[in-house]
Amino acid sequence: MQICATIPEARAAGRKARASCKRLGLVPTMGALHEGHLSLVCAAKAQCDVVAVSIFVNPTQFGPTEDLARYPRQFERDCALLEKENVDILFAPSVDEMYTKGEATWVMVEGLSDRLDGRSRPGHFRGVTTVVAKLFHVIEPDIAFFGQKDAAQVAVIRRFVRDLNFPVEIVVCPIVRELDGLAMSSRNAYLNPEERQRALVLQRSLRCVEETFRAGEKNAATLIAAAKEVIAQEPQVHVDYLELVDPDTLEPIELITGKTLAAIAAYVGTTRLIDNAVLNP
Ligand code: PAJ
Repeated sequence: MQICATIPEARAAGRKARASCKRLGLVPTMGALHEGHLSLVCAAKAQCDVVAVSIFVNPTQFGPTEDLARYPRQFERDCALLEKENVDILFAPSVDEMYTKGEATWVMVEGLSDRLDGRSRPGHFRGVTTVVAKLFHVIEPDIAFFGQKDAAQVAVIRRFVRDLNFPVEIVVCPIVRELDGLAMSSRNAYLNPEERQRALVLQRSLRCVEETFRAGEKNAATLIAAAKEVIAQEPQVHVDYLELVDPDTLEPIELITGKTLAAIAAYVGTTRLIDNAVLNP
């Protein structure tokens, strides 16, 4: 695996792959890798000749009171995992490499960036789309792989790629879960054993939405009320949002007639977790 710390190195590595007509895949991550990330790497290996992974804890997508400083960083361990997966290129730049001082240019998707996580985390998606645009410019992948775990991020990225004509195909991979159903996340490491147990209520609430929907309920307010009753079983879990939305526009849906995203974000202690399910009539 070629480890690139600078933009010129990573750009040269990407261009070398493309010059020999190889299909180049990129998996952008913030590291602290788990099976969810590795499922994207696996998909990339299956669909591409050359696979690049980026590890960059992107400061611009964290709010001033968020967990940037304590976000888990495990570079050696991540490298070993990626070596084992036969990743070809690892791009792991420093903050100074990615952002010049006094930078004034941002990539932002209007509207979508203010929904779901964007509403709770102002500026978050502006940071995500800006860094992903930079990564696309540096690596120039043919395909980029993202996880359905971050469904709002997927909607925002699909939109910015379309709006700015990026020549990159976006592939979305299913949510990878722990055996007991908790969606894998680098932030699960923050949970103490009691919180880890309480966190299961996120998925239970989504399962309640799915089951109630399958039993014939199409009214979003009724489905949300049923899910909130499940959440109430864990009074120490505080819902940030629990919504049924259009998966592309993230606009709330009142009556389910087409593919619908049931998305939840909740605080378990001080840790903010997200999960979702897609309802498909
Ligand atoms: P990060 O949280 O490290 O996630 C990197 C990728 O892994 C994202 O596409 C995310 O959706 C996917 N992922 C995380 N957990 C997953 C799971 N349990 N199952 C499937 N996929 C999962 O998302 C980011 O980083 C950043 O916002 C980034 C896109 C890298 C921009 O900084």
